Amino acid sequence: MQQITLNTLKKMKKDGEKIAVLTCYDSTFSKISNQAGIDALLVGDTLGMVLQGNDSTLPVMIEHMAYHTACVKKGNNQAFIISDLPFMTYSFPEQALKNAGVLMQAGAHMVKLEGDIWLCETITRLTENGVPVCAHIGLTPQAVNVLGGFKVQGRTEEQAKQLLESAKKLEESGAAMLLLECVPSNLAEKITKAVDIPVIGIGAGAETDAQVLVLHDMLGLNEKTAKFVRNFMEGQSSVQDAIKAYVLAVKDGSFPSEKNQYIY
Ligand code: KIV
Repeated sequence: MQQITLNTLKKMKKDGEKIAVLTCYDSTFSKISNQAGIDALLVGDTLGMVLQGNDSTLPVMIEHMAYHTACVKKGNNQAFIISDLPFMTYSFPEQALKNAGVLMQAGAHMVKLEGDIWLCETITRLTENGVPVCAHIGLTPQAVNVLGGFKVQGRTEEQAKQLLESAKKLEESGAAMLLLECVPSNLAEKITKAVDIPVIGIGAGAETDAQVLVLHDMLGLNEKTAKFVRNFMEGQSSVQDAIKAYVLAVKDGSFPSEKNQYIY
């Protein structure tokens, strides 16, 4: 198996090949996801909700992320591993450097952080120090208390313009990937076309370069899920088959369908 790198993902964007990403928190699911052909695994701070049972990602610590990143790495033989910097671990560049180092040494190929153009200086410093960065914009769950809930972002013309500008500035500052969460599909399409770096979407329509879902959601383990989730376990007899079905649906463009999108 050939390791998927940032260059592989950039080439996939250029060639118009869709990228399938899934969250992952342990070595068993990492192995199964690799066998199912996943391109990238996100060790997301959603582990604070789906593994730890919290009602937000805020209680997650850098130690938790390092532990789960190391677990995922052990089951991995091909996928690109992205690991989340948790809440309050990248408030200024020096702090981000120290904590990103912990995740990279645990096995991440890239770190993800949530925010806007206030992160540009941090992204440049991380990149200069050998840490590729994915910038997460739109609905940023670590800011749930500022946003007033888990709500679709970029619905007004002004907000949409601001998100598009942010995406360009984050790319200029060195971000090697973007993640767009819960934004209208037409805005996600505009942003994806406006930048050269791969754009991962969740609740952002079908036109982003990549799709990501939370593992527990797509396996139908959560009773209440957002409209952008599809239960891929339905009609399958194994977890590996469900993940294979997800990879196939992302690659052939059948996921997300219109009913999984926010259209304004
Ligand atoms: O932490 C996470 O799993 C994420 C996804 C919701 C994209 O950031």
